[in-house]
Amino acid sequence: MRILSAALAFAAALGLSTGTATVASAQAYPSRPITMVVPFAAGGPTDTVARLVAESMSKSLGQQVIVENVGGAGGTRGAGQVAKAAPDGYTLLLHHIGHATAASLYRKLPYNPATDFEAVGLVTAVPMTLIAKNGLAPKTMGEVVEFVKANKDKVTYGNAGVGSASHLCGMLLMSSVGAQMTTVPYQGTGPAMNDLVGGQIDLMCDQTTNTTGQIKGGKVKVYGVTTKERVKSLPDVLTMQESGLKDFEVAVWHGVYVPKGTPKDIVEKLNAALNTALDDPKVIARFADLGTEPESKDRRSPAFHKDFVVAEIAKWKPIIQSAGVYAD
Ligand code: MLT
Repeated sequence: MRILSAALAFAAALGLSTGTATVASAQAYPSRPITMVVPFAAGGPTDTVARLVAESMSKSLGQQVIVENVGGAGGTRGAGQVAKAAPDGYTLLLHHIGHATAASLYRKLPYNPATDFEAVGLVTAVPMTLIAKNGLAPKTMGEVVEFVKANKDKVTYGNAGVGSASHLCGMLLMSSVGAQMTTVPYQGTGPAMNDLVGGQIDLMCDQTTNTTGQIKGGKVKVYGVTTKERVKSLPDVLTMQESGLKDFEVAVWHGVYVPKGTPKDIVEKLNAALNTALDDPKVIARFADLGTEPESKDRRSPAFHKDFVVAEIAKWKPIIQSAGVYAD
């Protein structure tokens, strides 16, 4: 047996791709720190989810999972970087619904969101909130609709670039209202939130993982949540449907990916560590404080995630095309 393990170690060291060597590499994996790319700036909702999950995955994998923020182009810059990374399990992407909508928003996307990645597993679906700078006149969602109709492009709306969830939510709002606002793009809604709290922009739609603290701290006004049901941690905030915006529904699902061609054994090892993180009481409690919860157990397999991305690309394509929004 010693001879075989020495040969396997030698083969793995040479990167030989014999099946046995792959098994050996998966058994040895991970042997060094792992990078988890977040395709938005630090301090935003995607970053918040990633750091919670990465901290827990580090424990179960026995190697540091280090978050690297690669912002720009609504998340497509970071996703593109991971699509081109070595398929060895040492570069992960944690992205959200923007990974699916980019397929319709970008006509010259340098990667295919469905086929250039291996899906590792879904993480959580986060509600969004429509928020405003303190001092903005409207008191209710109905008054916001009238305010945007009356002021159109004089109203400034912050987002994380075309393809981001905050962009998608703004698109749904403008479609519901029938008026275009002036959008102000940022590398992430972390930086955008600073300008909203500072009064430099008027409105933003962002995930409860970034807005709960600001809402409860009275730093911003809140007009509604974008999920069908109210959010437990914001019980008094009406849903968009309760405010009469029937078609305005979006929850920001998140998933973990690795480059296409990453060995199945490594994908499964990462999926197991992700599931352990989603069952981690610390992660569950923090998600609850921030208005969300881990993906349900029956939706956590790589196969489910893979099919879900394809279905979401198909779901959002007609909605985006009818809104006539393109990034390039
Ligand atoms: C977005 O899509 O708006 C992102 O979630 C923003 C972010 O995470 O910074």
